Amino acid sequence: KQTGYTALDQGFVNTASTRSAITFIDGDKGILRYRGYAIEDVAKNSTYLEVAWLLIYGELPTADQLGEFDEKVRRHTLLHEDLRRFFDALPPNAHPMSVLSSAVSALSTYYEDSLNVRDPEQVEISTIRLLAKLPVIAAYAHKKSLGQALLYPDNSLSFVDNFLKLNFGNHAEPYEVNPVLSKALDRLLILHEDHEQNASTSTVRLVGSTEANIFASISAGINALYGPLHGGANEAVLKMLAEIKASGEGVEKFVERVKNKEDGIRLMGFGHRVYKSFDPRATLVKESADEVLAALGVKDDLLDIAKELEAVALADDYFIERRLYPNVDFYTGVIYKAMGFPSRMFTVLFAIGRLPGWIANWREMNEDPMTKIGRPQQLYTGSEVRNWPQR
Ligand code: CMC
Repeated sequence: KQTGYTALDQGFVNTASTRSAITFIDGDKGILRYRGYAIEDVAKNSTYLEVAWLLIYGELPTADQLGEFDEKVRRHTLLHEDLRRFFDALPPNAHPMSVLSSAVSALSTYYEDSLNVRDPEQVEISTIRLLAKLPVIAAYAHKKSLGQALLYPDNSLSFVDNFLKLNFGNHAEPYEVNPVLSKALDRLLILHEDHEQNASTSTVRLVGSTEANIFASISAGINALYGPLHGGANEAVLKMLAEIKASGEGVEKFVERVKNKEDGIRLMGFGHRVYKSFDPRATLVKESADEVLAALGVKDDLLDIAKELEAVALADDYFIERRLYPNVDFYTGVIYKAMGFPSRMFTVLFAIGRLPGWIANWREMNEDPMTKIGRPQQLYTGSEVRNWPQR
């Protein structure tokens, strides 16, 4: 009901936009749970597709349910041939995030007959199509940026292995998936799968609340993720680390510049709206960073700079008083780089990770009888009524 009183809550710091049973976060204690399961257990014991099922349907799948789900996703990996050619129309230096959101938006043009948001069967097939095709679109955005031929998916491979082959394979040689890389990527994707009402998920819900189709809603979510304050932070972290290295100014000096807010610079990969003691995902990613680099035989100075930066910041009153800690994006870039991904692909990897969370939230919103179109109030700060001038 309209009460006549509108509270201003810039950035939705204190306002819940929805109720949800998907993900629980306690930001003071550093707790993150998917459907009640601790992120530490989920990351250690599961796979991307199993977690996707858990988030979307609410329970862990049986072995049969998971097998069937996996099978369905594999069957829908191919893109329409015309959509494959869509990549030719974009400039070679297009940012892969723009390519991703454009191609996901374009998906709705190929499936116009199955976009009824009220028909559970159509929602189901769209869910499978999104999960199957987003990694293929992402890999094509990568190949396109390299000027390399687009490969067809290999449905004999698992979700992650297929994705790796599409990114790093070529037509001339057989491609052997490195199991270390595959396991590490699966784990990183799991850590990104959902994070309650972050900016991109809220965008998916807001767009979806107009009864826009799921492809349109998720394309909007991808665009929200693109920004450096959200998913784009992983790319920005690597850029920052590389700049610190190239400038030779040293970590302490850089931190001073951040504290002085010189040119508005921030320590990218630090701080979070909700986590105020630590980000449990960052702890898990940091553990992976050493393991993965060692297993891949990669030595990267940027990891040393990141560790030094973390140590200096965590001992500094500026960061302590503001309760700023490394977030999930702080170490992921170093790992993605060691895996062979260019930095412009980092946020795309975040998007593949976050997709099941977006789908779960979109579906929960659609199934909730309390859902209303999202339509925030404003506090008007313009002029009072004015008389139109006599001319
Ligand atoms: N470096 C330096 N100072 C910071 C940082 C940072 N990364 N983050 C916040 N602050 C300061 C900010 O300047 C402000 O100080 P003051 O009170 O003197 O004005 C204070 O801390 C509070 O900051 P805020 O901007 O009001 O906090 P917020 O909750 O609105 O912003 C944030 C959260 C994540 C956008 C912000 O911490 C940030 O910009 N971090 C860097 C970008 C980043 O790593 N983003 C990834 C977030 S986690 C993954 C995801 O969601 O995508």
